[in-house]
Amino acid sequence: MSPSKYIFTETQYAQELERLQAIEQVFDPTSHQRLQSTGIKAHWRCLEVGAGAGSITQWMAGKVEESGKVVAVDLDTRFVAHLESSQVDVLQGDIQHLPLEDQSFDLVHARYVLIHIPDFETVLSRVLDLVKPGGWIVLEEPDFAAARAIAGENAACQAVNNVNQAILQMFTARGMDYGLGAKLPALLQPYDLQTFSVEVDTHLSNGGSGLATMMKMSTMQLAEKYIETGAATQADIDNYGRFAEDKQAWAIYYATVGVIAHKKAA
Ligand SMILES: C[S@@+](CC[C@H](N)C(=O)[O-])C[C@H]1O[C@@H](n2cnc3c(N)ncnc32)[C@H](O)[C@@H]1O
Repeated sequence: MSPSKYIFTETQYAQELERLQAIEQVFDPTSHQRLQSTGIKAHWRCLEVGAGAGSITQWMAGKVEESGKVVAVDLDTRFVAHLESSQVDVLQGDIQHLPLEDQSFDLVHARYVLIHIPDFETVLSRVLDLVKPGGWIVLEEPDFAAARAIAGENAACQAVNNVNQAILQMFTARGMDYGLGAKLPALLQPYDLQTFSVEVDTHLSNGGSGLATMMKMSTMQLAEKYIETGAATQADIDNYGRFAEDKQAWAIYYATVGVIAHKKAA
């Protein structure tokens, strides 16, 4: 297996769709606010990188109306292929290699995508090149370094922390940075952007919440990879699952760093 292969590639269709839709349910409202703050409107051309289950692509399509265009890119377009229309282009492929140089966009958005790409700096530079002068880029990436169990049974808290350690080791072994979100501002600073603002969302979540449930799904899907690191056992995975269902158990599962950047006009 190539070290950079997308970690959820081998998961089952229904499980992966459920996980992606759980991400959308928790995070779309904040993403909508960030995207809305760019002034997205009719006629705009937008690029959604790593479109997942497609809710942001659909939302953008509503904003740009019939006169605009949304290009939705993903390694795996099985959940968004049905969105293809005169207004939405669905492109299957790797954002690192898809030929997009003849295109330019008023707005580029990616949520939880760069973290999966070891060479995220090249991709960042590439997507910034695709933004028109005066256009916008909105990036939202996780910082798993913020993750920790806060309250719950001792053994379950330890299991959650072991799984967090396994997440760190799995990302590192694959050449990926599990704290990428927190580095976004520093990565964007050298670019000559007109403005950029930074937001950090740290959800303190209890068992049964949307975020805990989504992270339980991820953990069950990636259990084998976590156990392979040696940092977590099957018992830790089982305890993580119980912790994520226990209303008395609290954790920060990760933080999300959102950056809204405006490119200088020509
Ligand atoms: C965690 S999911 C997030 C989906 C969506 N952005 C969201 O937040 O709801 C990551 C998505 O990025 C896609 N992806 C990962 N690496 C990619 C790459 N190199 N090029 C294009 N898409 C990629 C995956 O297939 C997956 O759909």
